[in-house]
Amino acid sequence: MSRATLKIGFVGAGAIHFGRPEVPWDHASRLEKIGGLEVIGIVDPDTRRSDEVLKERLASPDYGHMYTHCRLLTDYRELLGMKPDIVFIGIPPAFRGSPKEGENLELEFTRAGIHAFVEKPLSLVPPEGFIPYARSVTEACRTNDVVLSVGYMFRYHAAVLKMKEMIAHHGGKVMAFNARYYFAYTEGINKYWFNTEFSGGPIVEQATHFCDLARYIVGDVDMTSLHTIMLNDSDKSGVGKLKHVPGNAEDDIPSNKRIPRVTLSHWRFEDGGLGTLMHSITLPGSRYQATIDVQLDGLQLSLIDPYESTSILRVRNLEGGNPNQDQDFRFRK
Ligand SMILES: NC(=O)c1ccc[n+]([C@@H]2O[C@H](COP(=O)([O-])OP(=O)(O)OC[C@H]3O[C@@H](n4cnc5c(N)ncnc54)[C@H](O)[C@@H]3O)[C@@H](O)[C@H]2O)c1
Repeated sequence: MSRATLKIGFVGAGAIHFGRPEVPWDHASRLEKIGGLEVIGIVDPDTRRSDEVLKERLASPDYGHMYTHCRLLTDYRELLGMKPDIVFIGIPPAFRGSPKEGENLELEFTRAGIHAFVEKPLSLVPPEGFIPYARSVTEACRTNDVVLSVGYMFRYHAAVLKMKEMIAHHGGKVMAFNARYYFAYTEGINKYWFNTEFSGGPIVEQATHFCDLARYIVGDVDMTSLHTIMLNDSDKSGVGKLKHVPGNAEDDIPSNKRIPRVTLSHWRFEDGGLGTLMHSITLPGSRYQATIDVQLDGLQLSLIDPYESTSILRVRNLEGGNPNQDQDFRFRK
């Protein structure tokens, strides 16, 4: 039985959709391997970038045919008019996720009956403005029977699924959730990330994955309990100054818009357990260090380096085996 060809549109010709040398994963490459699709349009105001991307894709002997009729566009509304079956929205959050006309892409596509995949973070709009907008998008999905999915890929990571399974088997509630997200910055940065105006800062842009996992693994947070402190570039101690930003890429970002160097938060979950998150920008090189410890009575689950090609789930368990010994499960991407 032959499958119908899916018409796909991309909003954004950047790394998440088409990769870059140091980013071996991207949505286009994965979709191409699945097959059965035709890319009908790529939207990006940076036409030099989209042109380069299209030329590269067309040159592929295996997948070039999927781009034969692809048009380069500069405004998402042109793509909307072309009625793709599904749109991938992967542009910085300052340009989407908002009820403002021209930034309400999610609503416009789903209202037009087009399935959408949107990258994290969902928005830079504060919750009081974003929640009513999210409800309109949910309503549009329901009315038009379309799906909107978000790029919180760790929810599907085999180690996270194993954690969920072990917590369910334990039967108790999580007492402590402790996440550490250490960013390595000296070999390359994305200027969008380093400007809070465009990225929303490192929690909204990066550690959002771990905020999502906190909710996915433990549950909702009592927002009235949340407390955060930050170390900023402008801190009068001078400790917040970064000396190894490649190519002096921060020099044209005003100090008050540079992202915090260290962010520390703690909170209480609605279920009673406590959570902490620390994000820092200090590590040399390009390898992040990211770990989550989840503790229940008599059980500790540590997710170690989920960004690496091999990640570890380290388990210390009262049930079965030696309670003083760690048991490591390894997962390959
Ligand atoms: N799920 C993940 O782990 C993951 C990983 C990387 C990036 N992302 C997310 O994907 C998004 C894009 O990141 P990236 O790394 O591809 O950034 P990037 O800087 O490589 O590319 C962004 C592209 O969007 C274009 N753009 C800006 N405004 C636009 C608009 N209004 N319409 C169309 N194009 C526009 C820019 O010109 C640029 O080419 C971000 O929100 C980022 O957080 C998610």
